[in-house]
Amino acid sequence: MLDAYLQWKPYFEIVPMEAADCREVSELHGQRFPRQWSDGEFLGLLLQPNVFGFVARQTNAFFSRPLGGFVLARETAGEAEILTIAVADKFAGAGLGWRLMQSVLRETSQRGGEVIFLEVEAANQAAIRLYRKLKFQTVAERPAYYAGPDGERSTALVMKRDLR
Ligand SMILES: CC(C)(COP(=O)(O)OP(=O)(O)OC[C@H]1O[C@@H](n2cnc3c(N)ncnc32)[C@H](O)[C@@H]1OP(=O)(O)O)[C@@H](O)C(=O)NCCC(=O)NCCS
Repeated sequence: MLDAYLQWKPYFEIVPMEAADCREVSELHGQRFPRQWSDGEFLGLLLQPNVFGFVARQTNAFFSRPLGGFVLARETAGEAEILTIAVADKFAGAGLGWRLMQSVLRETSQRGGEVIFLEVEAANQAAIRLYRKLKFQTVAERPAYYAGPDGERSTALVMKRDLR
């Protein structure tokens, strides 16, 4: 009863992604993207010293800490890029994408990053709205960049935000 009440409004904390998160992160990635990255792929990336990530973990579920979302980024010589980001469908629109991105922006600055890039499908309006609100600007378009499951091609936007 109390559990049901507490879960009615889920609360999340944003914490650094660890090796133990990779299996769940891979599962969520598979739910939100057409080609799932395996837990081994996530682990391989996370073990690189210039790669870092964050997960959103629900703090008010009694028996587990459900994964609400994740983000993975890489910073090299002052330039960072978002490798992937996703929020679980049932927690969409609750600000987790915003909070995960804020954590990446902060960590990038702390690592000395001066600029951050990302790629997004031009049709992905939910993601583009989030990035624009975070002051990302489109700096390039890559027509026919992504291949869909039926072979159709779609445009990618390259977006950039200055951190200086
Ligand atoms: C894109 C994605 C990560 C967004 O995550 P989300 O948690 O639903 O997004 P948020 O709730 O943080 O943001 C939703 C809205 O609130 C805004 N918002 C949230 N917190 C805010 C804050 N503190 N201040 C100002 N605006 C805020 C967002 O910009 C956005 O605006 P909108 O209402 O105009 O759409 C999510 O849709 C997703 O996982 N999609 C599938 C995977 C994907 O497409 N990833 C991106 C590939 S490039």
